[in-house]
Order: sequence, then structure tokens, then C-alpha cells
Amino acid sequence: MVQRHSLAAPCGAVLAISFLACVATGVELSVNNHAADFTLSAELVPAISLSCLVHNSSQAEELLWYRGDGQVGLNDGNKVNISNICISPVNESDNGVTFTCRLARDKSVQVSVLLDIQFPPRLSGEETLHVEEEKAVTMTCNSKSNPQGQSTWYKDNQTLTLQSRHDLYQTSEIFRLSITKVQKSDNGTYTCVVDSPLGKGSKDFHLIVEDKKPIFPTEAIIAAVVVVTLTIFFGIVARRDKIFKCFKKPRETTL
Ligand SMILES: *[C@@H]1O[C@H](CO)[C@@H](O)[C@H](O)[C@H]1NC(C)=O
Ligand SMILES: *[C@@H]1O[C@H](CO)[C@@H](O)[C@H](O)[C@H]1NC(C)=O
Ligand SMILES: *[C@@H]1O[C@H](CO)[C@@H](O)[C@H](O)[C@H]1NC(C)=O
Ligand SMILES: *[C@@H]1O[C@H](CO)[C@@H](O)[C@H](O)[C@H]1NC(C)=O
Ligand SMILES: *[C@@H]1O[C@H](CO)[C@@H](O)[C@H](O)[C@H]1NC(C)=O
Repeated sequence: MVQRHSLAAPCGAVLAISFLACVATGVELSVNNHAADFTLSAELVPAISLSCLVHNSSQAEELLWYRGDGQVGLNDGNKVNISNICISPVNESDNGVTFTCRLARDKSVQVSVLLDIQFPPRLSGEETLHVEEEKAVTMTCNSKSNPQGQSTWYKDNQTLTLQSRHDLYQTSEIFRLSITKVQKSDNGTYTCVVDSPLGKGSKDFHLIVEDKKPIFPTEAIIAAVVVVTLTIFFGIVARRDKIFKCFKKPRETTL
């Protein structure tokens, strides 16, 4: 333990495989003055800047930056001994992303920053849904927020009492209510509320339950269509006969 500790010391929190490299190079990195991996918490600020510095090197050292697994393009003059990157503007998609600064000569020498971007729920507005009685309907809300909020469904401003025909589905991103066989009593306004420490969001769904449409008597319709078609057809044939006769008569007289 003592030996591991003394070896690890110059390398910060780098793992066993990199001990030799670290000991060999003696080079250390720091990002925003952290010599080991760390988590950076921020709200949706205009920009976050990360500064990577080389320590204890007797030669010029090239630095590399990665966003997740992808290498970040750096300008000349922002690579040697010190390298700064700027994340701007910071948005929700930066949450959970890891930025890593590495030594080009020995990629095992690195410091990572995990971004913990905090934002309130992003849901608002309203939607009107028309659904026929006995059909199914689904209402979906975007429940994303960091920290995760508390999600609740209301019907006509009262906490929804779940019935067997109701089905709730929830992930860290969506909150969904399905009604499998809609009844007349399901008509009303459903509100999805996501309540987080950074704020509250809600969305209304006006569910209009419509009368069940009568099932089409397909065979009767086909029979009716056939009858109508035949009637028109024979009607035309009969008339053609008359028309033909009319044409014939004058011709006979002229001849
Ligand atoms: C690196 O430099 C720091 C001071 O900048 C010093 O405290 C530390 O002992 C040095 N480490 C090595 C391995 O030279
Ligand atoms: C980088 O640091 C090394 C060692 O201190 C030094 O010799 C070199 O001139 C530095 N290069 C730049 C571009 O700062
Ligand atoms: C976040 O920003 C990036 C680039 O700046 C952009 O491509 C992406 O669409 C944005 N995401 C959101 C959720 O706004
Ligand atoms: C629910 O509350 C809102 C605002 O307090 C109000 O405008 C709306 O009429 C209420 N709806 C019902 C069905 O009570
Ligand atoms: C059905 O719900 C909608 C939306 O809340 C409401 O405007 C409408 O009056 C309701 N209709 C009936 C028959 O209750």
C-alpha cells in the first residue's frame, strides 16, 4: 500500500498501467487546477472554460483534448504546455459529457472532467386530442431535468386516480400516460407536471372523448352499390335504345 501510494503520488488518480509511464516521464497534468478527475457542476451558463496545464516537464509537451471519445480540434498556439477550451453556449446536451486532456506523447497521462449541467424541466404548452370511445390514447411529456424532477399527472386539476385502463411509463426523459379503452368519463384536461429544484414545468392535454362511430355494414353497402350500379346501367341501356330509335327514324325518312 505504501509503495503504491508513493508511486501514485506524482500521477494523481491515474491507474496502475500508467504508473510506469508517469514515473518515467514525471509529467503531470492539471485541469482548472485539479490534478485528478473531477466533476464540474454548472447551470446553463453562457460558457465554461477548461484550462489544461503541464507540470514538471523539462521539455515542450503537446496536449490533446477529447469530448467523449472524439478529439477536439485545437489551434496552433493552444497545444503546447497549456491548452484552453471553451464550451459555449452550454446546453442540456452537454450534461453527462466527459472532457479529457491528454499528453500527446503518453496518452495515459490524463485528467477528465465530467460535466454536470443543471437545468429545469422543459415542458409547456397544450395539445388537444380527439379520441373515439373505446379507442386508446397516449399522452407524452418531456420530463428531462437535472436534478431529476418529480412527475405527476392531474385530471381537471386533481391528482389522477389510476384505474386499470391507465398505464404509466416513466424514464429520465419522458413521462407518459396511456388509456387503453377510453370511456366517456375520461373526457377532460390532463396536466403533466414536472417539479424540480430548479423549477417547474407543465403541459395540458385536452382530451375530447367522441361518440363511438357506428361500425360500417360493409356487405350492405356493397349490395347497395351493386344495385345502384345495375339500375343506372340498365337505365342507360334502355335510353340508348330510345336514342338509337330516334336516330334511326329521321335517317329512314331522308332515305
Ligand atoms: C511536480 O511539481 C510540484 C510543484 O509544481 C512538486 O511539488 C512535485 O513534487 C513535482 N513532482 C515531481 C514528480 O517532480
Ligand atoms: C514548454 O515547457 C518547456 C519546459 O518548461 C519549455 O522548455 C518550453 O519552452 C515551453 N514551451 C512553450 C511553447 O511554452
Ligand atoms: C446544444 O448545442 C449544440 C452545439 O452548440 C447543438 O448542436 C445542439 O443542438 C444543442 N442542443 C440543444 C438541446 O439545444
Ligand atoms: C384548473 O385550474 C386552472 C387555473 O387554476 C383553471 O383556469 C381551470 O379552469 C381549472 N380547470 C378545472 C377543470 O377545474
Ligand atoms: C371534455 O373535455 C374538454 C377539455 O377539458 C372540455 O372542454 C369539454 O367541455 C369536455 N366535454 C364534456 C362533454 O365533458
